[in-house]
Amino acid sequence: MGRKQEGNGIRAKLHSAGVQIKVLDQKGVIDLGSIQLWFGLLFGSFGFLYVLWQFFIVETDPMSHFPAHMRAEFQDQKHLYERFGDRQGIARTINIAMVVCDPTKVDAVFSTIKNIVLLSISPVHLLLFTQDEVMKKLIPDVEKFSWSVPGRLQFRFEFAQEEIFGYKESVPCEQQKLMLPSELQNHGLPAILVVGPEFLVTTNTDEIWRDEIIGLGEKQALGLFEDRHQLSTDVLAIDLIRSLTNDLNVTCKKEEPNERGPWHNWKVWKGMRDQKPQLESIQAELQQLRHCNQDIVKRISYEFENGKYGLRKVFNNRVFEALQHAFLKTDKDLSDKAFNDQAWEKLESLEPNNIDRNLLTDLLERIKDGFQTAINTQNEKIKRIEEEANFV
Ligand SMILES: *[C@@H]1O[C@H](CO)[C@@H](O)[C@H](O)[C@H]1NC(C)=O
Repeated sequence: MGRKQEGNGIRAKLHSAGVQIKVLDQKGVIDLGSIQLWFGLLFGSFGFLYVLWQFFIVETDPMSHFPAHMRAEFQDQKHLYERFGDRQGIARTINIAMVVCDPTKVDAVFSTIKNIVLLSISPVHLLLFTQDEVMKKLIPDVEKFSWSVPGRLQFRFEFAQEEIFGYKESVPCEQQKLMLPSELQNHGLPAILVVGPEFLVTTNTDEIWRDEIIGLGEKQALGLFEDRHQLSTDVLAIDLIRSLTNDLNVTCKKEEPNERGPWHNWKVWKGMRDQKPQLESIQAELQQLRHCNQDIVKRISYEFENGKYGLRKVFNNRVFEALQHAFLKTDKDLSDKAFNDQAWEKLESLEPNNIDRNLLTDLLERIKDGFQTAINTQNEKIKRIEEEANFV
């Protein structure tokens, strides 16, 4: 009833305003006719502009401004869209984080860096969380390497903390990996692969980015490898936005109220830790994350462990070491004989069996193909840039 009265009130006010305007017009204070004309012209010109805009200015392909080499391939785009919907927009750059506090791992880390960059088609953005000792050893190598692959590696160092939550870590700095979503809040990154030195790519880095980051299910925020008795930190695939927008269950209790809290609250992680205090390092946290937050956790495909697209050290120690050695020694050409020789020499020094030899043969072939794909794509881009420059 109140609303009806209000409506009547407004109508009455409008009516009286209309009457007053007519009175002003009759008194000669205003000229209603010319005001109407002006309004008519105003709307008319807007309409005219709109028609012009529709016919002449709006373009069907806004990308046509960009030089050809910067435009996404229609086929790729369509294919990506079919597979991943909106999430294909994450595809521009591959974001990698490495957290390293152990100075004895520097060579292994550098091998993985070279591996990831040399086999990537998209440019790599690398964040290295380290402490001073590791940083001093890594900087010259990484910097020199980045000059040899112009435009393909962007890196920066960040500081890694040994213990974040105030309890002793069996593997120093592991907890930092869990805190990356909070730490990277201001970096404007959509997602990141946290990679350790016990993982190598065997085709193209883009495969793991595509399948395990862009391909994360609708609610999923974290991907990891699962071993029989523990969860692995060799690779963590983290969606940085979803990890911060979903609250985490601290326990698996079905009945309410369950303890819950946001990712960046250390009490959540401490609560998870307290559930399984006997476990080492961040195992307790990962177990609780895995078992009590199933909606957001995904298992990374086995094909990134067994050599098809990627290889973990735990899958085959000897072959892994052989490849790691070859990547450390290579300058940048993975298709030349020297790279293969380095790998074979190392493998033979480790008393391999035929399974190892067959696997290495297969993986060297895959790496060579992946490297060719990456190189060919870059050469095509360069050719297109030059052609456009000549055309202008
Ligand atoms: C948290 O636990 C509740 C109750 O067991 C469950 O329904 C919900 O899916 C869990 N949250 C996540 C993110 O898995």
